[in-house]
Amino acid sequence: MNQRKILVTSALPYANGDIHLGHIMEVTQTDIWVRLQKLRGHDCVYVCADDAHGTSIMLSAEAQGITPEELINKVKRQHEQDFKEFLIGFDNFHTTHSEENKSFSEEIYLALKANQHIAKRTILQLYDPEKQLFLADRYVIGTCPNCKSNGQYGDNCEVCGSTYSPSELINPKSAISGAVPTEKESEHFFFKLPAFNEMLKTWTRSGTLQDSVANKINEWLEEGLQEWDISRDAPYFGFEIPGHSDKYFYVWLDAPIGYMASFKNYCSKTTYKFEEYWEKNSETELYHFIGKDIINFHTLFWPAMLTSANYRTPTAVFVHGFLTVDGTKMSKSRGTFINARTYLENLNPEYLRYYLAAKLSSGIDDLDLNLEDFVQRVNSDLVGKVINIASRCAGFINKGFNGELSSKIDTPELLMEIQSKKDEITSHYENREYGKAVRIIMALADKANHYINDKEPWVIGKKDKASPELQEICSIGINAFRLLIIYLKPVLPETAKKVEIFLKIQPLIWEDIDSLLLGHSIGKFTPLITRVESEKVQNIIAVTKEIFKPKDKLEHKKKMNNLEEFEPQIEFDDFKKIDLRVARIILAERVEGADKLLQLTLDLGFDSAGNALSRKVFSGIKSAYDPDGLKDKLTVVVVNLKPRKMKFGVSEGMILAAGPGGKDIWLIEPHNGATPGMRIT
Ligand code: 2FM
Ligand code: ZN
Repeated sequence: MNQRKILVTSALPYANGDIHLGHIMEVTQTDIWVRLQKLRGHDCVYVCADDAHGTSIMLSAEAQGITPEELINKVKRQHEQDFKEFLIGFDNFHTTHSEENKSFSEEIYLALKANQHIAKRTILQLYDPEKQLFLADRYVIGTCPNCKSNGQYGDNCEVCGSTYSPSELINPKSAISGAVPTEKESEHFFFKLPAFNEMLKTWTRSGTLQDSVANKINEWLEEGLQEWDISRDAPYFGFEIPGHSDKYFYVWLDAPIGYMASFKNYCSKTTYKFEEYWEKNSETELYHFIGKDIINFHTLFWPAMLTSANYRTPTAVFVHGFLTVDGTKMSKSRGTFINARTYLENLNPEYLRYYLAAKLSSGIDDLDLNLEDFVQRVNSDLVGKVINIASRCAGFINKGFNGELSSKIDTPELLMEIQSKKDEITSHYENREYGKAVRIIMALADKANHYINDKEPWVIGKKDKASPELQEICSIGINAFRLLIIYLKPVLPETAKKVEIFLKIQPLIWEDIDSLLLGHSIGKFTPLITRVESEKVQNIIAVTKEIFKPKDKLEHKKKMNNLEEFEPQIEFDDFKKIDLRVARIILAERVEGADKLLQLTLDLGFDSAGNALSRKVFSGIKSAYDPDGLKDKLTVVVVNLKPRKMKFGVSEGMILAAGPGGKDIWLIEPHNGATPGMRIT
């Protein structure tokens, strides 16, 4: 056999979010393909990594009060665990925030620069004056200039679908601080993509892409390519651009380089040679599995960068569609935005691997996870058809023949038919037409079950449990089962392992399809896969709704606090009427019978005659503050509010606090140095 050397990647998940079933679909598609190649004896390496850079990661870390490094390390551990439990067999899982990636990113950038493929120019960009950072389009929110819908992002309107630039938004606000953005100039670096127009025309038409993808790209190539902005200003979490402090590589520049970096890291732990896989004119194969939303990065920018930097280009980029659940986009409120962890806490990962395989094709259409169909199909195919073959035959072999299979088969037609489908099934897997492969495998499972139905081993067994005929029928059944399990091994690696133990055999490989198991002693049959319980599916939905409900509400509320129109406006004279003073809390007490209130006694300094001034106010901050911790804190109080009679007594003023409620309430605390009674101006 001509052993192929293959390097395979899946898209790198961002290091600030949980793995969800959309990610799982992609890595399952890739993993099945990789496992097939390995079973066939090819030398296939599968690498991935976390995509660890960018503004969102920086902001997430800040919101969690940890450093970006702490965040990405924590998330990486979770990602690795989720993938492992979904039986994704990465040979290496790295991070883009690594030494290898820094070194390749710098090297590639310097090569592009030396080849005159980097341009420099000043651009005008929206800037958050409060947060002091430049705002990417998705961090600007305002009213759509076309349909006037509120709360739209800076590049397109989700209501009317029109696209625009963030500066065209009406009433733009920074989604980070709520501040009105200003425009600010900054020097940026651009990759001269148009220089690669001809190269890309040839590359995209040379069997590297599915037709539908190549057609789409062709449209872009005909329209003409734009230079690509590859730099971002500080503050940013990423790699600094060599020679320019405070300028960073845009996350999408170093993300695909992360494929190289992960492989390089793998080479340092094995005998694989990096150059053999990445040098120009390499004879090895390189495949990227990706979703249809990131085609441009992988089929334009990436091959062009590799070409400029004198590396090989990918052999092919395999694009898939999105995962929908019950016919619509995964939704947090409907409970269908399912995290890998939630699924794993309820169901066997192989159920989903099988369902996805049964529906995956080489196209870019979306794949629907229909939850009812999922339960029904897994139960009827895996449990009802495949596992059933073994459970119907193993008992007779164990009881009547001491676990021994026949040493020869006189009527091997069924088995020959199953074996004869090897090439067809292999080529469907190779072409990522897993659904077609699974259909053939299940049709063969049906045939095996018909065979057993026709032969009625239970009738023979009743008369003579040691009849040679019974041994042959059940040996055929067990052999059919073994062959089907080999065919399914890329999809169901864990079940295959259990079958190997049950059959007492070495790990199955693809070549084993050409042989039979004869004169061999097998073990006791135990149920290898149990039925999917639909209550578990319902539980997944309920848990998912719960996960996203409270947090989402709070986030939404926070966002709205920032972005509210500040209406109604007041006159300056109205403002002047408010007498705000610094106060020291001298006593904070729980209020009998009140859920939310604390009673605060405030020290307000002295009146003009030198008498100590104090006030008692009620404040709804009990959910966020322990009264003992409030003593001696400084805060701000509206002192000239008319005393209000409340259920629990009279409140002589109002203290100031911010936040959406619950634990998220913060007292306004003047800096030390302010003293009680000072007027706030
Ligand atoms: O879209 C995404 O989720 C990106 N993190 C994918 C990166 S793939 C590769 F280029 F790194
Ligand atoms: Zn609109």
